[in-house]
Amino acid sequence: MKLFLDTASIDEIRQINRWGVLGGVTTNPSLVAKEHADPDRVWKEILEEVDGPISLETTELEADAMYEQGVGLAQMAPNAVVKVPMTPEGLTAGKRLVTDGIRINVTLVFSPAQAILAAEIGAYIVSPFLGRLDDVGSDGMDLLRRICEIYEVQEYETNVLAASLRHPMHVVESALAGADIATMPYAVFTQLVKHPLTDIGLDKFLQDWKVLHEELEEGA
Ligand code: E4P
Repeated sequence: MKLFLDTASIDEIRQINRWGVLGGVTTNPSLVAKEHADPDRVWKEILEEVDGPISLETTELEADAMYEQGVGLAQMAPNAVVKVPMTPEGLTAGKRLVTDGIRINVTLVFSPAQAILAAEIGAYIVSPFLGRLDDVGSDGMDLLRRICEIYEVQEYETNVLAASLRHPMHVVESALAGADIATMPYAVFTQLVKHPLTDIGLDKFLQDWKVLHEELEEGA
């Protein structure tokens, strides 16, 4: 399972990219808005920083306008992936983009039926939003499992991207469910590496190492 960052912050992206595990980035209009800067500049920096797929989201609602906007976004860089919403207009624009050879990410997916539609238009990525379903008392992980099962049975090639993840166990469970990609905020990404026993173990190793060198110095 590839690990993506769900952010438009170049600082966060640069920090995680140093770990050597960053497979790509997802952005959305709200995340870009948080940067208070020209969206094209924000996207360009991200596209240059990370080698993997970078999702850039359309904001037009009508199919023709969404398609034109998507073509423009795709032209920004070879690793750009165009995000379209799971709406009838999004499907129409998305299908045209796919026909042009442009990779698309169908976003705001909340049901298995919507995931089938995304696969049928040949989407490169489908994005079920787990956390937002959990927020309204539904089971986001169950949705992810069902989508993964349908895609396997139907042999769909669309990549399943677990989105709207809120904590490390969401990431672990997504991997078990068979997701191709998990995208998460910076705070969740940094939680993945942490374990109190790692810190305690490292402190002990370094303490013992220090004691050894003090002994050696005393004996010299
Ligand atoms: C995915 O591509 C979306 O940007 C994202 O995961 C939405 O998550 P949220 O529910 O934390 O806003």
